[in-house]
Amino acid sequence: MSSFMIRVPASSANIGPGFDSMGLAVDLYLTLEVTEQTTWEFISPSAGDVPFEENFIYTTAKQTAERHGKTLRPALVEETTSIPLARGLGSSAAAIVAGIELANQLGDLGLSQEEKLAYATEIEGHPDNVAPALLGGLIISTYKDEEIDWLKIDQLGLELIALIPAVELKTKAARDVLPEQFSIADAALGSGIGNVTVAALISGDYELAGKMMEKDIFHEPYRKSLIPNYDLIQQTTKEHGAFGTVISGAGPTMMSFVPQDRSSKVITALKEVLPDYRLERMKMDTVGLIVESK
Ligand code: HSE
Repeated sequence: MSSFMIRVPASSANIGPGFDSMGLAVDLYLTLEVTEQTTWEFISPSAGDVPFEENFIYTTAKQTAERHGKTLRPALVEETTSIPLARGLGSSAAAIVAGIELANQLGDLGLSQEEKLAYATEIEGHPDNVAPALLGGLIISTYKDEEIDWLKIDQLGLELIALIPAVELKTKAARDVLPEQFSIADAALGSGIGNVTVAALISGDYELAGKMMEKDIFHEPYRKSLIPNYDLIQQTTKEHGAFGTVISGAGPTMMSFVPQDRSSKVITALKEVLPDYRLERMKMDTVGLIVESK
């Protein structure tokens, strides 16, 4: 019987115009300490009195094993997390990736990274959070006909500040405000903005990348009224030198992209106007999922 640890990072999806197709891993983590034993036991901060059979990580693991005709060996699973729930920082994507890896370990599935990514994307519906949670870095991806194409950027010469409000926002509510369709002219404009954002990030032109992020037309204009202090945050961060500040995933967290060595100044200014926010300097996680045996 073995003991091991699974660790999965948080992620910030969309980055403006990369709706459902771009996201970066950040250094908050969901961790599972797993000790094989003869019965199942889940200790989880979010579980309350929920029996282990209804635990999301457990059900994800069980379904993943079943697709391979395997059963899971029972274990004591102790979950800890620093990823806030329903804040737009990929807590559910991290749980999905952790569940798939739990199945991989306890069912001896021998999954490749591509298989894990395919399963996780199928469950989440889009790869923008699950891909960086699994692979680390900034991942640009697309999902069509059950095929995922992706590219990883693992160096960013800028700093990240997460502005996390005390309130939650469910992804479904934030998706319900989006239009069903865009005209060809808007689709061309929106993807043009996305294309320039990605090109600017890859070339290290962060000034241009930040400007483009804030021009998104796919989701930010529809969601801004759901995000507390949206205009105040963009204005204050801009005044103090940020390149660009956008909704993290479906919100309500916002993520600011700021020049190197600038984040403490921006955070000091933000503390004045947003005293109730959790303001955190974050680093990109370039590794993604890790498993360590003990
Ligand atoms: N791209 C997704 C959204 C991320 O913005 O709705 C949250 O699942």
